[in-house]
Amino acid sequence: MRAIAVSEYGATPAPMYLPRPVPGPGEILVKVIAAGLSPLDWKLADGMLKDSVDASFPLILGQDGAGVVDEVGEGVTRLRHGEQVYGILAAPERGLGAFAEYAIVREDGPVARIPDGMIYTEAAAVPTAGSAALAMLEQARVDAGQTVLVVGATGGVGQCLVRLASLAGVKVIATARADMAGTMRRLGADETVEYSHGDRSLSELNAKVLAVHDDGIDAVLDLVGDTSTTENLARLLRPGGTYLSAVWAVHPDSMEAKGLRAVNLDDRPSAAALERLSDLIDAGDLRVRVEREVPLEDTPDALAVNRVGGARGRTVIRL
Ligand SMILES: NC(=O)c1ccc[n+]([C@@H]2O[C@H](COP(=O)([O-])OP(=O)(O)OC[C@H]3O[C@@H](n4cnc5c(N)ncnc54)[C@H](OP(=O)(O)O)[C@@H]3O)[C@@H](O)[C@H]2O)c1
Repeated sequence: MRAIAVSEYGATPAPMYLPRPVPGPGEILVKVIAAGLSPLDWKLADGMLKDSVDASFPLILGQDGAGVVDEVGEGVTRLRHGEQVYGILAAPERGLGAFAEYAIVREDGPVARIPDGMIYTEAAAVPTAGSAALAMLEQARVDAGQTVLVVGATGGVGQCLVRLASLAGVKVIATARADMAGTMRRLGADETVEYSHGDRSLSELNAKVLAVHDDGIDAVLDLVGDTSTTENLARLLRPGGTYLSAVWAVHPDSMEAKGLRAVNLDDRPSAAALERLSDLIDAGDLRVRVEREVPLEDTPDALAVNRVGGARGRTVIRL
């Protein structure tokens, strides 16, 4: 089957012909129709996740996917041949991922039926973004009426997070370049704040938020800041506030010494999270914007583009 894979950590992702996998007991073989691309894909290829993810090579990339159940392994009862499914279609320990004609997922893993009326390309954009956003909101423990700053709000996870926080009655300040301010407002952001990539410490961002919230905010939900910027942004927090980093950039000891709560997100997507996302989609409360669609052979270029930044939603690969 056709796939996009790396031969070792750090290698350039490339098209390869690899054997079609066979589902073992409890596993589902999915014929992939569309796959969603996110920074986790090039991070996995680079070896940045090797302490937490087992992998074998050649390693097919791709987490998010949508397609049709092609075959089920022994003992599978939850899903049947021909059903339309979406989820995290990756088994890196077996070298398998969603950027391929076929992928494997465990029946008890992060997979669910595609919500009625949703097309494959839209479904493929949802799993990682939606699951991470649900986990961030839960782990931030913010209540209706409290105020959060979402840093990196215009990407896949950020857009879901702004939407879900706003649905929960949380007041959202979203970072956004000028071209995305309207989209952020439509998703439910109460305020938007522009930032500049040249401002490494995000000090301008601090000043802009403090100008409106001089008594501080309740949480920073950070999808981009590195260890050098978290200390600065933490100055925005009220005593007892929460700093949540999706990129493991926050030092719990340092935050606790300031009387703040620190959380580094470790989202483990599950079937239950996918079912919750399906409910939100069915209710018309959640969609992930598909920024562009590319054929499988263009995936290496699309990964290179994602590294540079500037995501305005998800890039989806059509198989
Ligand atoms: N820990 C976990 O379990 C977990 C789970 C899922 C995702 N993640 C991580 O979460 C991060 C975000 O994922 P994603 O899928 O949303 O990525 P994405 O779709 O590529 O979006 C990233 C967004 O951040 C914006 N951005 C970049 N630099 C910024 C800055 N200095 N200030 C404000 N915004 C900035 C980008 O726009 P511009 O470039 O135009 O600024 C882009 O809109 C990734 O690093 C991913 O690995 C972690």
